[in-house]
Formats: sequence, structure tokens, C-alpha cells
Amino acid sequence: MTQDDLKRAVAAAALDYLRPKLQNDTVLGIGTGSTADLFIDGLAALRGLFNGAVASSETSARRLRDHEITVYDLNAVNQVDFYIDGADESNRALQLIKGGGAALTREKIVAAVADQFICIADESKLVHTLGAFPLPVEVIPMARSHVARELVKLGGDPVYREGVATDNGNVILDVHNFAIPQPLATEQQINNITGVVANGIFALRPADLLLLGTPEGVRTLRPEH
Ligand code: 5RP
Repeated sequence: MTQDDLKRAVAAAALDYLRPKLQNDTVLGIGTGSTADLFIDGLAALRGLFNGAVASSETSARRLRDHEITVYDLNAVNQVDFYIDGADESNRALQLIKGGGAALTREKIVAAVADQFICIADESKLVHTLGAFPLPVEVIPMARSHVARELVKLGGDPVYREGVATDNGNVILDVHNFAIPQPLATEQQINNITGVVANGIFALRPADLLLLGTPEGVRTLRPEH
């Protein structure tokens, strides 16, 4: 089975999980990336069973609209019932690294509002300790060098993601060689650097459920503490 097959399987499992829970007023939060894209494509068949969606990126919003799914501004809805998104890494507490697609800030906002966060990922994303994947940090452009120096003080090697502007008009630093044994503390520490908009550690708001694609089938993981 290829990684794409596993992504397809978790996207289908998320649709199976959600289908009986959808109601006329259900609003879904939709993430960004190749796994989220597969979920969006499958969601088209369920269009009539829920109210609409809030997207974590302009790319996902376009894809949803292409499938004639109503896309709301987050400020126009009172609740987001479920947030479905991929991840770059997850540990067993379902604390994540996200932002490989540069959408981390909006992903964090939608996840913060959502009642339930369902992460969908292939088995390569499950790790013991976060940090093998370079940690994305969204930064106000004029603060780029300052933030990079502060990230070096924390022990990482920040690399400017050339040619990338986020949907919010900011830049991304990817922090390499940065093991994250204490995700909660590190998330807060990086948030405290002036000029940081958001960082890709999702520990303050971890996932509630991880659907993990493996060659033996989709595993359902809940946070281990
Ligand atoms: C985008 C993300 C994605 O969820 C993450 O990069 C995983 O992507 P994919 O599903 O393509 O493996 O955080 O900002």
C-alpha cells in the first residue's frame, strides 16, 4: 500500500465516522493538505446532509466551493462541530506538528473553535517525540531575523521558507534539529516571542481523535496521558 492509499483510507474512515453525526445545522471545519483534499473530495457526496464548512486556507475554501459546499467565514458561524485535518506529526497524546502547507495559523484558529478535532493521517506521522519534522513558525515579515535569533537561543536551526507567503501575508520559518519533548511548554515559549503569529505545535489544543492509516487498516487513537 502506498502512502496515498493510506491517506485515502483515513479520509474515507473520517467520512464514515461523521456521516451518522451530521445534522442540518452542522458546520464542519476543514483543514489543508493532501489528506484534507481527499476528505473534501469525499465530502461532496454528503453535501446535502450538513449546513456548510469553514476552511483553514484559501486553497481548501476553493476546493470546497468547487464541490458546491457552502463555505462560511468563521465570524459568521456560532459553532464548528467537527474539525478534520491532517498533520505532519502526532505523538500518543495527539499533540501535533502542523503547518507543512503553511496554513498553521488558520488551522489553529479553526481547531480552537471546534468541539471535536479529528486528525487524519497515515502511519508515518505517528512519532514518539515531536520534532523530526521541521517545526513551522508563522512570522510577521519585519520580525523574521529577530524571531530566527530567538529560535536559535531555544536550540533550533530556523530556515526561511523561500518564496512562501501565508494566506495572512506573513512568512514561515521552519525550525530544524529541534526535538520537542515538552510540547505544551515549547508551544507557549515560541508564542511568547514578539513577531510570532503562531507556531505549528498543537499541544494547547491537541486532536481529540486520530484516525491513522496502516496497511492492516485504519486505527482509531484517543489521547494517551
Ligand atoms: C498544512 C498541514 C497539513 O495538515 C500537513 O502538512 C499534512 O499534510 P498532508 O496531508 O499533505 O500530509 O498542517 O498546513
